[in-house]
Amino acid sequence: MTDIDGNAVAAEIRSGVADCVDTLTDAGVEPALATVLMSDDPASETYVSMKQNDCEEVGMRGIHVDVDDDAPAEELYDTIDELNDDPEVHGILVQLPVPDHVDTQRVLRAIDPAKDVDGFHPENVGRLVGGNARFKPCTPHGIQRLLAAADVDPEGKEAVVVGRSDIVGKPIANLLFGRGEGGNATTTVCHSRTENLAEHTRRADIVVAAAGVPEMITADMVSEGATVIDVGINRVERDGESTLVGDVDYDDVAGKAGAITPVPGGVGPMTRAMLLYNTVKAASEQHD
Ligand code: GUN
Repeated sequence: MTDIDGNAVAAEIRSGVADCVDTLTDAGVEPALATVLMSDDPASETYVSMKQNDCEEVGMRGIHVDVDDDAPAEELYDTIDELNDDPEVHGILVQLPVPDHVDTQRVLRAIDPAKDVDGFHPENVGRLVGGNARFKPCTPHGIQRLLAAADVDPEGKEAVVVGRSDIVGKPIANLLFGRGEGGNATTTVCHSRTENLAEHTRRADIVVAAAGVPEMITADMVSEGATVIDVGINRVERDGESTLVGDVDYDDVAGKAGAITPVPGGVGPMTRAMLLYNTVKAASEQHD
């Protein structure tokens, strides 16, 4: 069994991004990512500060804007408009979820599609589905890179995605069955209403677990030698302590899988690395 080391692959991607940042900076363009947080959720605060630290590590300019979580929604839309209009900002990320009084779809539509480094704007979603992606969403793109790093080519294989979220399930399914490198798999999407889930997952050469249910994928649900990608980040109480687990029961499945991503240290670092990748792509395209 191979542990797919997301930290190592992400470090390689960051190193490539750092080179691109240097090249662009020499050409007079300083790539910049703006993060916007309208939440007092400690997990969201941590995610955003990690993204800002990542910017610093690759020499990229990071800008952060906090919007009070009980401020009127207009304040967030105005913030986005200002960042859209600022030619020195190339990528904009509004950390989700936003408070209930803010319309998430309106937020996603408000971001200039050319600066939408999450790839969540309907125009960018449409382009991805149409096989002409501008920004591949970070987690699905990271998964493709992890599969490539593990020498797993999805072409012609059975891939089963568990979870149908807009952020992971839907886009990774599209990438896996789509044409092109890292695609061409026969892809099934399972979700909370799927009957006989294990019958589907047992057929899979590649299982992507992205349902947000702690340790739901067990050894009896995967075939011998399968590649198992765990997207879950679930905080659970274990022996009186709070700990992070994925959607895969790692200890159980590791004995049977051919390759598996650990949690933490698998998909998580890749998501952040691909955000940096999308930001240099945005900067370079805005100055073409
Ligand atoms: N919240 C959880 N994951 C994400 C993500 O990938 N992007 C944004 N903007 N918010 C998130």
